[in-house]
Amino acid sequence: MSIEELESIAQAMVAPGKGIIAIDESTATIKKRFDSVGVPNTEENRRAYREMLLTTPKLGEHISGAILYDETIRQSTKAGVPFTKIMLDAGVLPGIKVDLGAKPLAGFPGELVTEGLDGLRERLAEYAKLGAKFAKWRAVITIGDDTPSGTCIEANSHALARYAALCQEAGIVPMVEPEVLMDGAHDLDVSYEVTEATLRSLFGALYEQNVLLEGTILKASMVIPGKDCPDQVDVEDVAEATVRCLKAAVPASLPGIVFLSGGQSDEQATAHLNSMNQMGPHPWPLSFSYGRAMQSAALQLWGKDMQANFAEAQKTVALRAKQNGLAALGQWKKGA
Ligand code: 13P
Repeated sequence: MSIEELESIAQAMVAPGKGIIAIDESTATIKKRFDSVGVPNTEENRRAYREMLLTTPKLGEHISGAILYDETIRQSTKAGVPFTKIMLDAGVLPGIKVDLGAKPLAGFPGELVTEGLDGLRERLAEYAKLGAKFAKWRAVITIGDDTPSGTCIEANSHALARYAALCQEAGIVPMVEPEVLMDGAHDLDVSYEVTEATLRSLFGALYEQNVLLEGTILKASMVIPGKDCPDQVDVEDVAEATVRCLKAAVPASLPGIVFLSGGQSDEQATAHLNSMNQMGPHPWPLSFSYGRAMQSAALQLWGKDMQANFAEAQKTVALRAKQNGLAALGQWKKGA
């Protein structure tokens, strides 16, 4: 795989008006989502749910790629067509979550470090054979009274950069995701400071590991007050702070930035992205890689009645894709 091929995949991931649907919940995380709508967490239900999402008519109109979980990339539709084939036929690039989860960081109570580097070269080679064009690794940064520590930020940046280098060696575009959590009562300024420090550390580590930025995508969290902060701010304030932070810390050679939704409501996630793009042009396309903010309406419907609500659930996926696609262009209107 040439450098040009990595670049063209990265650019396709953030093509104008398109973004990514994250459906890479681990078996433990999808259990939480299924529990919320009373669906048993069986392999067949996970397969059927992902089939509903991935066979949404015209999914590729506003969706450039979907992030899958290890189990999902090996699954097929009820009729026996591999999910990866369904996706490629729809113009949706297959992506794969390759980290093995965030684990407690020894010596640093309350902080996490993401694991999964051992054996990653071999796993990436297999995922490439299965059709993966890009990968995801999520690091988790927790804001608390005394956190994050510099050690936590550096350990996660180092792992993200080692992962990214291995992806590029395997011909897979790395999506690097340092998620600063919205949990807590911190305000917008603290979110800004922690996000800037995290991004600066990450891009330093990527440089040290010889990662080619032109073939890398950043999955970022927005600069936003913690969920329990009494001082919630306007959509434009989140958008302005996020863009300012990214401009301070992210090199312009990166082909694109996509956001996670991180617990924001569907409409908030769309409104924030739209507002950022209305403030453009920026050095990079700003788009979405939402999990919950793409799926929650569909999960509610499908969870109530998998058969009867199948098509209605798909309609909500298509609508959320369209709204977020418009927001990626700064053309979304509330209520549309
Ligand atoms: P949310 O948009 O639900 O935060 O999920 C995106 C994701 O992939 C987090 O790793």
